[in-house]
Amino acid sequence: MPELNTTSALATNDLYMRHRADIDAIVARYPIRQSALMPILWLIQEEDGWISDEMMKQAAEICECTPAEVLESVSFYQMYHREPVGKYVLGICATLPCALKAADGLYAYLSEKLGITWAETTQDGLFTIQRRECLGACSEAPVMLVNQELETKLTREKIDRILEECRQGKRKPYFTGRNGYRA
Ligand code: FES
Repeated sequence: MPELNTTSALATNDLYMRHRADIDAIVARYPIRQSALMPILWLIQEEDGWISDEMMKQAAEICECTPAEVLESVSFYQMYHREPVGKYVLGICATLPCALKAADGLYAYLSEKLGITWAETTQDGLFTIQRRECLGACSEAPVMLVNQELETKLTREKIDRILEECRQGKRKPYFTGRNGYRA
């Protein structure tokens, strides 16, 4: 089982010191420390909503890899965000099967309702719209991720209901914030 070097380098690592027990548990699941990178990135994102350069540097220290290697993972996977996002991330599938089921029109509807376009966040910090590749539910097209929940067979009416549930706080926020939830 890998042992973390907590006595020296990681003593000044804010990420590690803040989540020491969780990170130790994650690292212990893998034969090499580098393999813990993805769940540690997820931990960062659950807290902050996105992954900053500073957090990538700290994750690199913990996983004993380079910041460039961390950046490769963060850039490759759509689920990681390199910019701050809203409390609710609406990931609309824009791949062909969904496009054939009028996903473009639903995006236009959502975009007009919220006054934002792809990758933008509303001024109140509530919503971000993202373009996603196939979400693996083509038979249920068109589909959209609302944070981690998959919404299928979307219609304008369904979008209206989802937005209302988000505004009323009935859905789980994307991230918690370092001092509890922040809008
Ligand atoms: S194309 Fe949209 S879920 Fe597959």
